[in-house]
Amino acid sequence: MKKVLITGASGFIGSFLVEEGLKQGFQVYAGIRKSSSRAYLQDPGIVFIEFDFSTREKVLETLAQCKAENIRFQYIVHNAGLTKAQKKEDFYNVNCRNTIHFIEALIQADMVPEKFIFVSSLAAFGPGNPDTGEPVRHTHEPKPIELYGKSKLEAERYITSLKDFPWLIVRPTGVYGPKEKDYFVFFQTINRGMEPYIGFRKQTLTFIYVRDLVRLIFIAMTSSFIHKAWFVSDGKEYPSEQFAEITKRALGKKTIRFTVPLFLVKTIATVGERVAGLWGNIPTLNKDKYNVLKSTNWRCEVEPLEQDFGFKAEYDLEKGVQEALDWYKKEKWL
Ligand SMILES: NC(=O)c1ccc[n+]([C@@H]2O[C@H](COP(=O)([O-])OP(=O)(O)OC[C@H]3O[C@@H](n4cnc5c(N)ncnc54)[C@H](OP(=O)(O)O)[C@@H]3O)[C@@H](O)[C@H]2O)c1
Repeated sequence: MKKVLITGASGFIGSFLVEEGLKQGFQVYAGIRKSSSRAYLQDPGIVFIEFDFSTREKVLETLAQCKAENIRFQYIVHNAGLTKAQKKEDFYNVNCRNTIHFIEALIQADMVPEKFIFVSSLAAFGPGNPDTGEPVRHTHEPKPIELYGKSKLEAERYITSLKDFPWLIVRPTGVYGPKEKDYFVFFQTINRGMEPYIGFRKQTLTFIYVRDLVRLIFIAMTSSFIHKAWFVSDGKEYPSEQFAEITKRALGKKTIRFTVPLFLVKTIATVGERVAGLWGNIPTLNKDKYNVLKSTNWRCEVEPLEQDFGFKAEYDLEKGVQEALDWYKKEKWL
């Protein structure tokens, strides 16, 4: 049985990665923290390993225990990451420094797997050109517009500098599905009869349903590719109104539509950041978030997924939103 270690296993995408690994007959090791919830990791076949990535030495201690128990991972999906942070430095520490500690420790402990797949983000490259509407491509110069994307890009730069390390990188666009908490806020808002928009310019969004993403990650991981990165979306483009339309239809709701002007969002973000900054914190609506909200082109290239793997998403937004909403209702989130 091949062994796969999935870090960030307790989170939204991580728990689906674990499920997919078990479904495909891998021995699945769930990399979690002491404090992590195991609520979505109930399968008795899962083996838990507690990692602390904050120093290379701490990772080495855990790897030494693995070695002592004769555990060698053929595959590692490094999915642990921060998408929201209270302090600015947390993004860099978790998304970049921890990744470096992890890889350095794997090399030092002589536990380099056959394949190490890093879950980055489209945010590492930032949005596409708003004027041409061209999708973000791997040949483009990365231009992340917020600290999250910058920290993912820094990690990518370290990883791609490694010539003898078997890395792969996936850069998903917005991921949605059961258990997810950010798009859920939008679903909740629509469910309450409100349909908010930010700014008057049309936005083009892209998405990937979580089950398609984890399927793709396993395809890439077990492929013969090394030293390659892919953007991941379902291959379609959605005007922001269409996201709302699909959600309204699935929920059977009528809504009141309103637009918050960009200047107002910017003012709230700037003032909020100054005030919270006095304590070294980042408010939920901050200047980075404003930059993301005002970006209009979130297209990314997906042709390489089809060329390299013949990959086609099984879920478009309509099908994925319906399945996600069914789950939220079943679990009484909605
Ligand atoms: N969701 C998206 O739309 C999206 C899009 C592109 C890329 N991604 C990437 O996908 C990955 C998973 O994201 P997600 O949406 O599933 O987020 P999530 O639900 O917040 O899960 C994040 C996971 O990372 C773990 N983690 C956070 N800080 C850590 C630390 N200091 N040390 C060890 N583990 C830590 C969390 O552990 P705890 O449970 O202990 O907190 C959790 O298991 C991230 O790398 C994210 O950047 C997400």
